[in-house]
Amino acid sequence: MSESNRAAKLEIDGKTYELPIFSPTVGPDVVDIRKLYGTAGVFTYDPGFTSTASCDSTITFIDGDKGELLHRGYPIDQLAEKSHFLEVCYLLLYGELPSPAELEDFESRVTNHTMLHEQMVYFFRGFRRDAHPMAIMVGVVGAMSAFYHDSTDISDEWQREVASIRLIAKMPTIAAWAYKYSIGQPVVYPRNDLDYASNFLRMCFAVPAEDYEVNPILSRAMDRIFTLHADHEQNASTSTVRLASSSGANPFACIAAGIACLWGPAHGGANQACLEMLREIGTPDRIPEFIARAKDKDDPFRLMGFGHRVYKNFDPRAKVMKQSADEVLELLGVENNPTLQVAKELEKQALADDYFTDKKLFPNVDFYSGIILEAMGFPTSMFTPIFAVSRTIGWISQWKEMISDPQMKIGRPRQLYQGETLRDYVDIENR
Ligand code: SDX
Repeated sequence: MSESNRAAKLEIDGKTYELPIFSPTVGPDVVDIRKLYGTAGVFTYDPGFTSTASCDSTITFIDGDKGELLHRGYPIDQLAEKSHFLEVCYLLLYGELPSPAELEDFESRVTNHTMLHEQMVYFFRGFRRDAHPMAIMVGVVGAMSAFYHDSTDISDEWQREVASIRLIAKMPTIAAWAYKYSIGQPVVYPRNDLDYASNFLRMCFAVPAEDYEVNPILSRAMDRIFTLHADHEQNASTSTVRLASSSGANPFACIAAGIACLWGPAHGGANQACLEMLREIGTPDRIPEFIARAKDKDDPFRLMGFGHRVYKNFDPRAKVMKQSADEVLELLGVENNPTLQVAKELEKQALADDYFTDKKLFPNVDFYSGIILEAMGFPTSMFTPIFAVSRTIGWISQWKEMISDPQMKIGRPRQLYQGETLRDYVDIENR
């Protein structure tokens, strides 16, 4: 970060403190408060970190007002149209688009790490068959540190690289095996002659009893969904990974923490919750009832797939996802999918309602993704695992950026304490 030649002045009880201001390459300036407690004896207060930059990063930029998302400077709509997921993985991880040789080498390294240690099959069998695939993913990914000891030393650059490739490569296998286990089917091993998305589809839907041909329409849609979910600045699960990593924990444990955070319905679990909401609405005539509930302060119901902490305009990923939903469902001959019709009418009615437009609540990445995934044959329980497969590259890239920073220190927020002041213990006979 460059030296600052500007400062903010903060006056507290008649004393003025100067706080350096740093400017980004694009986006809001930041006020550096690192010395504030040491000089002024006060904390800043920002639950939910709505006004806090937790780090400096060069990976992803979001302009919430414009509805813009850049990965290493490249806009998401161009990447979704012109690139493919493993190339986007390379871009996020190493900072530049690869040359043909670099891409071939990277894809080969990922392809040749897609298998799991055979002992892990028994790990899956420890779960109940009706376990949610996210519960299995949290457990299995955390357990990877028990199977891949030779890539857990984060001070070793080579081990960091191996752990990164292993996680990118094995996450689809883990997600697919979690799905197969939950439906009582035998796991399907990855194939090195298939691309990343095709391999994942085959591991999910192939059965030993017959050959499985990957539908190129589904494979392209799957790859695009992976691309659209790859990284998103300092969202809740990425911040979880960064905080876990700041203690020096191994990469597998940190990614497992990110998976656990992503599972929540306010975050990555929203795609499952959104499709379940659309199914509950069922028909367009019930939409006004649900919009009224979403607006009712006394009703905890919210429109799943709507709103965003950062985007106060359309989520650019939602636009691409909506276009993809139209294309995929038409190509699959299910363009009259009732869930898609409800979603489009719900979006239309919500965006005609001042409540949503005044609060700048627009469809986010989770609003249309579930419709495509359902049309592809996935159960709703697999929606968030698919998000986790994709977001692994974002978590890994942000993790790598952080632990490579010599200035890195353990994350340790403070608090506004509102509890009891010092008091003496009272023996039970005196209470
Ligand atoms: C993801 O951070 C990321 O980048 C996340 C993500 C990523 O790629 O990593 O983009 C992925 O998590 C997308 C978001 C998925 N979540 C959902 O779709 C769940 C539904 N959305 C809401 O829960 C909510 O919009 C959040 C959690 C996404 C954002 O919440 P904020 O920014 O904290 O907004 P808020 O809760 O302060 O709400 C502001 C106002 C409130 O009303 P008032 O108190 O001002 O009167 O808007 C209302 C809220 O009640 N509101 C909604 C709403 N979202 C916010 N009202 C109805 N329906 C909604 N969906």
